[in-house]
Amino acid sequence: HALTTFRNEDFQDFTHADVKADMHAALRLVESELGHEYPLIIGGARVTAAAKIVSTNPARPAEKIGVHQEAELSHVEQAVAAADKAFQTWSRVPVATRVQLLLDVSKKIQQRKNEFCAWLTFEVGKNWAEADADVAETIDFLEFYAREALRLDGAKTPIQFPGERNTLRYIPLGVGAVIPPWNFPLAIMAGMTMAAVVTGNTVVLKPSVDAPTIAARFFLLLEECGMPEGVVNLCQGSGELAGAALVSHPKVRFIAFTGSKRVGLIVHETAAKTQPGQHFIKRTVLEMGGKDAILVDADADIDAAVEGVAASAFGFNGQKCSACSRAIVDARIYDVFCDRLVERVEKIKSGEPAENSAAGPVINTVAYKRVLDYIAIGRTEGRLLTGGGAIENETGGYYIQPTIFADVAPDARIAQEEIFGPVLAVIKSNSFDEALEIANGTEYGLTGAIYSGSRERLNRAAAEFHVGNLYLNRKCTGAMVGAHPFGGFNMSGTDSKAGGGDYLLLFTQGKSIAEKV
Ligand code: NAD
Ligand code: ALA
Repeated sequence: HALTTFRNEDFQDFTHADVKADMHAALRLVESELGHEYPLIIGGARVTAAAKIVSTNPARPAEKIGVHQEAELSHVEQAVAAADKAFQTWSRVPVATRVQLLLDVSKKIQQRKNEFCAWLTFEVGKNWAEADADVAETIDFLEFYAREALRLDGAKTPIQFPGERNTLRYIPLGVGAVIPPWNFPLAIMAGMTMAAVVTGNTVVLKPSVDAPTIAARFFLLLEECGMPEGVVNLCQGSGELAGAALVSHPKVRFIAFTGSKRVGLIVHETAAKTQPGQHFIKRTVLEMGGKDAILVDADADIDAAVEGVAASAFGFNGQKCSACSRAIVDARIYDVFCDRLVERVEKIKSGEPAENSAAGPVINTVAYKRVLDYIAIGRTEGRLLTGGGAIENETGGYYIQPTIFADVAPDARIAQEEIFGPVLAVIKSNSFDEALEIANGTEYGLTGAIYSGSRERLNRAAAEFHVGNLYLNRKCTGAMVGAHPFGGFNMSGTDSKAGGGDYLLLFTQGKSIAEKV
């Protein structure tokens, strides 16, 4: 295998006429395929269930994106059995074969990039650039984990004991449950699934009910690329039933989960309980929520900080675990920062994602109500600077104004709880020490950023700002595979560092072999 050195997939420039035309063509193609029904795919077999999951467009909820089967317990049983059977062969396939599957899938996505962008636009409301970043990250995960699997295959013991030949092999764990969130429904879903697959495990994939079609389209691509039956099994279903049944299943060896703190903790507890007939301790990879902060120091480049906060807080409507939901701003520049931020954020235009509007809708009625509830709480906890309500529209889309509250206390609910929507709390700090204390003063620890002109304070942040992904003088979203291994501290998860050099180890166990020579 002579693979080129990994490099991140370029983002597309949609201002170019040909790129734009290609995206328009992809939107039309996908539009003609909306509303189809998709089966569960278990051991390669198409399976129908009585209940359906109907996925709709958050910008126009009357539009059906796809109709999917809602797995019952019997389907979960069948899916685990199919994965268990496939494990007997897939775990013994040469690593080069598994790596080739990832590279083939990557190539197909590269060829059909905007088709996947269009699905993201219709199913979860991403604008073109946000969709493109999700697709590019998917390609990056595939290419990066392919190379990492080869590297891991060449692992050696640190020392050779005299008189012995010492080898170390990283072998797969077994059947894994992959449970992704809806917000990076291609990249995170595919990243967790294919990290498991490339290391020789088999998977039952239970996508989010808010993004089942993207997972189904990805699954069809796996089949097109010759993935053997049962290596991944597509088991669409609810978290409460199918997800929970997978987590507690005695034959599920590991769970790769990304989602909220609430559900992550349930997965953690459930997986810790040994079930009758279970012969191993389950492993969990849990990537959870955030309450991410950007510190703006007195000597910061204010315009750069305004841009970074606006992009981090309102990109994809703040529906990122990495989103900035707290701006902690030094008292000496507080007023000017707030004024410029409001001016910048009021330029964000909301509208149809398919037409590439800067801000689309939030994902569903539950999110819509939750965000509006937090805005109501914010009115009692801070001073409303801009936004503050829903945006009426003809299509019934779940649009909410980009909203900023100033003068928020560090312990206010909107400064402590993950809102996962377009709501930012601005908090005034009177010293750098206080700013750091506020930044670290939540139960989370995922991403963070600081804008400062002082080397000393940047260094202090590097040492004392307790987050898994820290950014100096740049925004706190947009981690790049390989350069920014991604995962958080405290209640943000198990710090699994997706897209990092240690990630594949989480899907393997090391076998040490010593032979007398
Ligand atoms: P969620 O926790 O509601 O759902 C995540 C997945 O868990 C879904 O597939 C869901 O069906 C499933 N699920 C729900 N209940 C379950 C149960 N009892 N047992 C097993 N599975 C169950 O999260 P979401 O709304 O899809 O995603 C948003 C959340 O994800 C936010 O909190 C965000 O911060 C977080 N997130 C974290 C990262 C990260 O890398 N740390 C990345 C993206 C999103
Ligand atoms: N990995 C995504 C980001 O960094 C969540 O924004």
